[in-house]
Amino acid sequence: MAGAYDDRDGFIWMDGEMVDWRSANVHILTHALHYGSSVFEGERAYNGKIFKSREHSQRLLDSGDYMDIPIPYTVDEIEAAKDQVLKASGLSDAYVRVVCWRGSGNDMGVASAQNPVHMAVAAWEWGAYYGDAKTKGAKLDISKWKRPSPETIPCFAKAAGLYMICTMAKHQAEAKGCSDAMMYDHRGYVAEATGANIFFVKDGEVHTPKPDSFLNGITRQTVIGMLEAKGIKVNVRHIMAEELEGFEQCWLTGTAAEVTPVGQIGEHTFEVGALTREIAEDYEKLVRA
Ligand SMILES: Cc1ncc(COP(=O)(O)O)c(C=O)c1O
Repeated sequence: MAGAYDDRDGFIWMDGEMVDWRSANVHILTHALHYGSSVFEGERAYNGKIFKSREHSQRLLDSGDYMDIPIPYTVDEIEAAKDQVLKASGLSDAYVRVVCWRGSGNDMGVASAQNPVHMAVAAWEWGAYYGDAKTKGAKLDISKWKRPSPETIPCFAKAAGLYMICTMAKHQAEAKGCSDAMMYDHRGYVAEATGANIFFVKDGEVHTPKPDSFLNGITRQTVIGMLEAKGIKVNVRHIMAEELEGFEQCWLTGTAAEVTPVGQIGEHTFEVGALTREIAEDYEKLVRA
């Protein structure tokens, strides 16, 4: 049985070395710990192969660029590190976390240009992110926190600091017996959940928010491609709060979430309908193909 995440058997790749899991530590005066100077990726391996691995590695480098964190590795080097970790883990289905951060160095103020950038890769077993919501439909709270404007924060990066409001939103949701929270953006448009993108169905067409203030997920893009290949119209647009009432089906997409049906958002209810189930099944087949 796996214990706390810092107390497990295995190896973690850190700056080119395979380090014993429990010794993969950083100093307390690590810049990232104080100022959020960290970017990361969440990936899933199925049957020993990471789905869209290179896309994730490229997004990590892009996140580093957005955040002024120059990552000293190429896509190929990141791929090799992930491969090494996955093999060492002995897992064929695994969640893979790659993280890059500003470490300890000569800067301990807000600036961090003198501090080295590190990278680590870990892999572990991680089942369904929302538990039995995959069959029943997840219940979502509506968060009081709004996805910030692109002028406020580099919202297209997968950066640690952006998850502050997600963690608070999720705590609040769980306290109300919900699996997650849906967030509006700074303009009041429907944005996403705390770690997943959102889709709605109405009259045989699909509607999903325009990713202009949040992460355009790799799973989101995959699912849009799957829907379009089936000839289903996907409307990528701004979605108003008032529209929630009229949608028939809803699902979330994300590497961790995969395709998870949603049964309720606040007071609004949705059926776990045929299209939702079909897309969830097709996605499951695709990642294992
Ligand atoms: C805030 C947020 N939005 C969306 C996603 C979905 O992105 P992806 O499908 O690339 O995993 C994630 C997960 O990475 C996320 O954390």
